[in-house]
Amino acid sequence: MIKKFKGLTFLIMLMMFALVAVGCSDSGGSKVDVGIVLPTKDEPRWVQDEQRFKDALKSSKYSTEILFSQGSSAKEKENVEALLNKGIKVLIITPHDGAAAASAVEAAKKEGVTVIAYDRLITDTDAVDYYVTFDSLAVGAAQAQYLVDNAKGSGVPLYLYAGAASDNNAFLFFEGAWKVLQSKIVDGTFKIANSSEAEKLKGSADLSRDQLGKIIGQVTTNWDANEAKNKAQTHLTAAGNDLKGDVAILAPNDGTARSIADVFASDSAIKTYFVTGQDAEKASIQYIIDGKQSMTVFKDVRTLVKDAMGMAVSILDGKTPETTGSYDNGSIEVKAKQTNVIVVDKENVKSELIDSGYYEASEFTGLK
Ligand code: BGC
Repeated sequence: MIKKFKGLTFLIMLMMFALVAVGCSDSGGSKVDVGIVLPTKDEPRWVQDEQRFKDALKSSKYSTEILFSQGSSAKEKENVEALLNKGIKVLIITPHDGAAAASAVEAAKKEGVTVIAYDRLITDTDAVDYYVTFDSLAVGAAQAQYLVDNAKGSGVPLYLYAGAASDNNAFLFFEGAWKVLQSKIVDGTFKIANSSEAEKLKGSADLSRDQLGKIIGQVTTNWDANEAKNKAQTHLTAAGNDLKGDVAILAPNDGTARSIADVFASDSAIKTYFVTGQDAEKASIQYIIDGKQSMTVFKDVRTLVKDAMGMAVSILDGKTPETTGSYDNGSIEVKAKQTNVIVVDKENVKSELIDSGYYEASEFTGLK
């Protein structure tokens, strides 16, 4: 009997030991050096970033974890808190809403974490250390220049669309585009088809943030393909035949470009349209090959990932990351590393995206 009891005690002790060991290895295993928070899985752009991060992280000596905020600032804050609990030293974050993210990164700074804004700036807070970004003014300028280069004659109806007003990039894209378009509106090449606010402001090439906000407020897609589609439908329903025929469309990114393009393509009074985009999403590359979207701005996410991880590793190694300039976030000048962008259309899609190894030819049909 005693022997049996002893055996049982041993068994219980063994089980307890096992439990403690599991507990230990669990908390040890979940320690994370670099936390990465991306805005949503609903857009291919950010799923692409996740994949490129995963590819880059294979060779990293530091542990990382990627979380998605699914278009919610509350979820984003929870994600940051979860990562702080895992002891992160560096936070790489693309805010869903640039201003609302301030409280999440302030919480991170309080824990001594270095904050890197990734692609989108976090505004009106001093709790951002670094910013890795593409040249977003150049993105907008390239979109606009494409429309200018392809406009024939004068009085071409110009449909304007913008990103979400909660995203600082939407302002940069539109500002870059407006600087190029404005003189071509004034000289009569284009006539604005869908924005009374843009019409009111067409006299000035340089718009203040408030003025940009007025136009963006009117033509925002909220980075949502459905909202873009509904807006385009409303605009075409309201437009007379003088605003149809051969038209130009400034669409802010690929997701919205495809849905706007579909609406314009299905209107029999639209003869031809040029529509812009950005991100080189696979579905848009297929649209470009098929002649349904005119161009995209290719932002090589591999470079952005490399820069962000390079910065994180420098910080973890106790070094100062390299930067190339700075961005005013409304509160401080945030040190930044910026990357150039490439215009892609039917002419160079193969050389830029396939021959360069970014995508596989087999992912597309009709590629020449
Ligand atoms: C990014 C774009 C993206 C858009 C919508 C912007 O901040 O720079 O690449 O298409 O957000 O997610």
